[in-house]
Amino acid sequence: MHVLMPVPLPALIRQTLSQHFTLHTLWDSADPEALIARIVPQIEAIATGVAILAEDHHFPITPAFMQHFAHLRLIANLGVGYDNIDVAWARQNGIEVTNTPDVLTDETADTAIGLMLNTIREFSAAEAYLRAGHWQHKAYRLSASLRGRTLGIIGLGRIGKAIAKRAEAFGLRIVYHGRHPQPAVPYAYYPSLIDMARAADILTVVAPGGPQTRHMVNRDILQALGPNGVVINIARGSLVDEAALIEALTTRTILAAGLDVYANEPHVPEPLLQLDHVVLLPHVGSGSQATRDLMSQLVIDNLLAFEKGEPLLTPIRDDL
Ligand code: DGY
Repeated sequence: MHVLMPVPLPALIRQTLSQHFTLHTLWDSADPEALIARIVPQIEAIATGVAILAEDHHFPITPAFMQHFAHLRLIANLGVGYDNIDVAWARQNGIEVTNTPDVLTDETADTAIGLMLNTIREFSAAEAYLRAGHWQHKAYRLSASLRGRTLGIIGLGRIGKAIAKRAEAFGLRIVYHGRHPQPAVPYAYYPSLIDMARAADILTVVAPGGPQTRHMVNRDILQALGPNGVVINIARGSLVDEAALIEALTTRTILAAGLDVYANEPHVPEPLLQLDHVVLLPHVGSGSQATRDLMSQLVIDNLLAFEKGEPLLTPIRDDL
């Protein structure tokens, strides 16, 4: 089987796919257009990935790109998120898409909790204070607290539920917003995001990126969250209106934010870098070696299953 890889995926994937398939790599080709023209009739699968997992190569898999390949039947994506692919078009045109869920759920939920604690208790700032020698003169200031807070989760999928489970152990009250109520969960459902923002004082963003969720957390939502409010985003930068967030932080409309993702990665807006009530991580949600290897293996296993005519391991479902 001929497989096209438009972006530099991790070595584990590259090496294993080269052993099993004829692998065509696009990003290092001197003449990508000529390469595509030459391999068009042979390509049955594309192995690609979200930019953070592909050395920051942004390569949207658009209808125009997919249309080149008449025999394309599978796109195996590295990443639980799939906003780099027009999945609706692929499905309508008989192309299956897989992602890498489950294996990263716990790692990502851990990151969300770590970011939440760090943001509210100011651990990064406190450490910087110590390293700068200020403790010698004065104890670090008192921070806000997690106690008595309500956590509002936007997107109660697999990762959202893993965050909720951890947050229960911290004694937080949990509420959620999503497209549908989930009768099996014990948390209150808010069909309206603004109503949830009024009821919560931590807003954690875990929903998929893409046009439907773009700027869901906007000026009005931030105002509803209020002056004790904290925004945690471990999903995609596109879900939060970054300009509105910067304004809300600057005017103290909300208390603080903890961000692992940004609208235009790896670019982080300068005003965010200047604020001291923001914790900024470089999109490390799933970023342990062990978890990234499991994600890579899932890309490989989906391609191998496809070639053998076996069921795909992780065809895309709508929840992360
Ligand atoms: C994903 O998987 O979509 C994350 O953004 C990176 O792990």
